Amino acid sequence: MSRKETIETQAKALHEHIFSKPEDTYAGRPWELVKAIDDFANANQMMTFKGPKIEVSKEEIKKIQPPPKTFIEFGGYVGSSAIAWGAILREVNGTDNFNVYTFELSPFNASIARDLIRLAGLGGVVHVVEGPASASLEGLFEEGKLKKGGVDVAFIDHWEEFYLPDLQMCEQLGLFREGSKVLADNTDFPGAPAYLEYVRAGVGANGDIQYQTESISAPGKFRDTIVEVSTAIRV
Ligand SMILES: C[S@@+](CC[C@H](N)C(=O)[O-])C[C@H]1O[C@@H](n2cnc3c(N)ncnc32)[C@H](O)[C@@H]1O
Repeated sequence: MSRKETIETQAKALHEHIFSKPEDTYAGRPWELVKAIDDFANANQMMTFKGPKIEVSKEEIKKIQPPPKTFIEFGGYVGSSAIAWGAILREVNGTDNFNVYTFELSPFNASIARDLIRLAGLGGVVHVVEGPASASLEGLFEEGKLKKGGVDVAFIDHWEEFYLPDLQMCEQLGLFREGSKVLADNTDFPGAPAYLEYVRAGVGANGDIQYQTESISAPGKFRDTIVEVSTAIRV
């Protein structure tokens, strides 16, 4: 089985598992659904962004003032982290006045993510955008859904070779404001050295954005793991 087939087969098994329960088990209950996805993903070695790293990220998101209204995610997979972002933004805003856009390459994964996001009761605010993230980003910018200085948080969790080019595309479109945060997973394992070097150098390619970056540790299944949190301190 190819890597893509394995990933999609796991996603399908997760979908069947969740929808085998009575609908009111998870309907409109995002945190219960995230926990159930986490348990299944841990038991089946799925590549979702898991509970302790969500907790670390939540603390970082809570620091952002005013509370974040626009959140973009690179790598939606089954929608697990996107559901968590939706639940967190609902908590910090107190209402559904925000948008989470999650970019997912595989139409198969995207349709599973949509079902789970809808089940969580977040279908109106968490949007799955299918296709390569770079094209989706440009499309949303052209449509006016993403604006200059309008992205409060970006979460990077797709394939590592895209981390740096997609961050730089955000910069080129001028999406960040002072105080925007960029969270990245997997910078320790399997690693994204070009990305890390870039954010740690602290200055964007055009010299018009500066980052302060911190590697925050969270407990993993076998060892501690890192969420890289970079804050735009000047744009
Ligand atoms: C590690 S998983 C994301 C996990 C997800 N954040 C979660 O917690 O459920 C990576 C996902 O990124 C997607 N992906 C990889 N490269 C991509 C790209 N260039 N644009 C959009 N999605 C991409 C893959 O199809 C895969 O589903």
